[in-house]
Amino acid sequence: MLNIYTLKNVKKIYNERNVALDGVDLQIKKGEIVVVLGPSGSGKSTLLNVLSGLDYPTSGTVCYYQEELNNKSAETLAEYRYRDVGFIFQSYNLMPTLTAFENIELGKTHQNDCDIYEIMQKMDLSEQKDKYPYQLSGGQMQRVAIARSLVKNPEVIFCDEPTGALDEKIGKVVLEKLQEINRDQHTTIVIVTHNPSIAKIAHTVVKMNSGKIVEQYSNKKRVAAAELRWV
Ligand SMILES: Nc1ncnc2c1ncn2[C@@H]1O[C@H](COP(=O)(O)OP(=O)(O)OP(=O)(O)O)[C@@H](O)[C@H]1O
Ligand SMILES: [Mg+2]
Repeated sequence: MLNIYTLKNVKKIYNERNVALDGVDLQIKKGEIVVVLGPSGSGKSTLLNVLSGLDYPTSGTVCYYQEELNNKSAETLAEYRYRDVGFIFQSYNLMPTLTAFENIELGKTHQNDCDIYEIMQKMDLSEQKDKYPYQLSGGQMQRVAIARSLVKNPEVIFCDEPTGALDEKIGKVVLEKLQEINRDQHTTIVIVTHNPSIAKIAHTVVKMNSGKIVEQYSNKKRVAAAELRWV
């Protein structure tokens, strides 16, 4: 299958004491769910940053399909993020003064004319349309954030601890939605988490420690998010 990302010997060195990525080799196939696990400080967010063009590696190559992101200008990387990349964070990052509908509308790009009502329905948010973030639960806010990323039909969605602020039941609903998007739209999804239970929904699991990939495996049998059990 086609690789959406190919990383070769990627290093991110802030200084002697902060080597965030220490020679990462990784291939991500198009249409996969990848779960990245690892202790705090192991380089997970840094890995997302170089994949998503938010930051440059110190050395090594990061290819998006055939394009080397590490050589691109900041402007080209911004275009790539705008066109192809969705982001989901633990803290939702919604605009407090906009309604759910308006927050989702923010994700629109001019190349894309999608139906926001349809996306809201898909995320089970139709009834929350006119509410402001403070009137929504954590799980609803995270689904608004997912809907906002979906309106541009991205190639890839990067999720940094998407369920970190949610309890088990609500967290599973959010993961179910991500699984549905992956299944129906073949969107590549990369999820960073501390929660090892979430690894079961992945096609591929990547474990990091001290800036290195220490283990990588494919799940023979994947589990539906609703069937997960937090351990
Ligand atoms: N801007 C920076 N300047 C210096 N060191 C940094 C910077 N950003 C990250 N680091 C260091 O790089 C290492 C990896 O950080 P990173 O944020 O990728 O870890 P993480 O695995 O995402 O951790 P967490 O699970 O706590 O979010 C850490 O030791 C961190 O202190
Ligand atoms: Mg992090």
